Amino acid sequence: MKDLLKKLSETYGPAGREETIAGVIKDELESFVDETFTDVTGNLYAVKKGSGAKIMVAAHMDEIGIIVTFIEEKGFLRFSNVGGVSPYILLGQQVVFSNGTVGTVSMEKLDDIKKLALDKMYIDIGARDRDEASAKIRIGDVATYYRHVSFNGGRVIGKAMDNRTGCAVLIKAMQELGDTNNTVYAVFTAQEEVGLRGSRTSSYRLDPDVGLAVDVTLVGDTPEPPSPMAVSLGKGPAVKVKDNSVICHPRLKEMLINLAVKNNIPYQLEVLTAGGTDAGAIHISREGVPAGVISIPCRYVHTPGEMVELEDLENAVRLLKLFLEGPVDLQKIFPCYPR
Ligand code: CO
Ligand code: ZN
Repeated sequence: MKDLLKKLSETYGPAGREETIAGVIKDELESFVDETFTDVTGNLYAVKKGSGAKIMVAAHMDEIGIIVTFIEEKGFLRFSNVGGVSPYILLGQQVVFSNGTVGTVSMEKLDDIKKLALDKMYIDIGARDRDEASAKIRIGDVATYYRHVSFNGGRVIGKAMDNRTGCAVLIKAMQELGDTNNTVYAVFTAQEEVGLRGSRTSSYRLDPDVGLAVDVTLVGDTPEPPSPMAVSLGKGPAVKVKDNSVICHPRLKEMLINLAVKNNIPYQLEVLTAGGTDAGAIHISREGVPAGVISIPCRYVHTPGEMVELEDLENAVRLLKLFLEGPVDLQKIFPCYPR
C-alpha cells in the first residue's frame, strides 16, 4: 500500500490532464481485470465481469491545480485555479508543470493580507523575460503542488491524498477481489475537482444498478476545526450519510454499516456540510441510481500536506471488497427494482 500510494500521490494529474495518472493506474490493474478502456472525458474503466448486479465504483484520479492565464514581460506567470485552491495555502509553495518545470508562488505588495486573491499572485519559474518563460510554458498549462510523500509511523503526508488514496483503495480491492457474481466497473474518474464531470459521463455510459464512490472526507479531530465533525483519523473508513452533492441511499448505507459491523471493521458515520463527491453525479444519472460513499478521513484537504492514516485505507479496502464480493439482491434491497 505504501509504495502504491507514494507512486499515485507523486504522479502529475490535475483535472483535465489525467493521461499520465490513468496510465499508472492501468499498469497496476491490467493483469487483474477482464478489460480496461478509456473514454472522451478521460475516465479509466477496469472491469471484472460477472452475471449479478452491475456495480460502478468511482474513485476520482484528478487533483486540484492552477492554470496559466498570462505571461508577463518580465517572465512571471499569472494564473487561475483548477478546482478548490486557496490563495493562502498556495502562497510560498512550489508548483510543478507537466514538463517538470517548477515555480515558486508569490504575491504583489499587499497592505491587507485579507485581500489576498489569486489575481494578486504570480508564479516565478526563474525565467528572465517573457521569451524565456514562453519557451517552457504556454497559456493554459496546468501545475500541481510539488511535493513528495512522507510516512510518519502509520500516517502519510503528501499532496493529492484527495483522491489518490481512494484510487489506491479501489486498485487494491480490485487486485484482491475473489470470485464475484457481480459485474464490477472500477471507474477512475476525471475532472471531479471541477464539478463531478467524469462521473456524470461514466455513470450515464454504464447505467449501473448500484453506484459507490471512494473519496476523502474532512475530519473534526484537529485544534478548533472549522466546523464540528464526527470523523477522526484512524477510526476507520467513514460511511457517508450526506454531503452537498448527495444524500446516500439509506438502504445502501445500511448495507455498508452491516458489513462493517459483521466483519469487525471499524467505521464512522459522516455528514459533510461542505463539498461533494462523484456519488453526487451518479445518484441522479438517468432515472436515478442508488449510490453510497466510502470515505477516507483526511486532514488538511486541498493543501500540499494532506494527511491520512494507512490503517483507514486498509480497512476501506476490506469493506469495499466485501461489498463487491457479496451478493447484491437488488429487488430485496431496492423494492422498485427491476427498473
Ligand atoms: Co477534492
Ligand atoms: Zn476528492
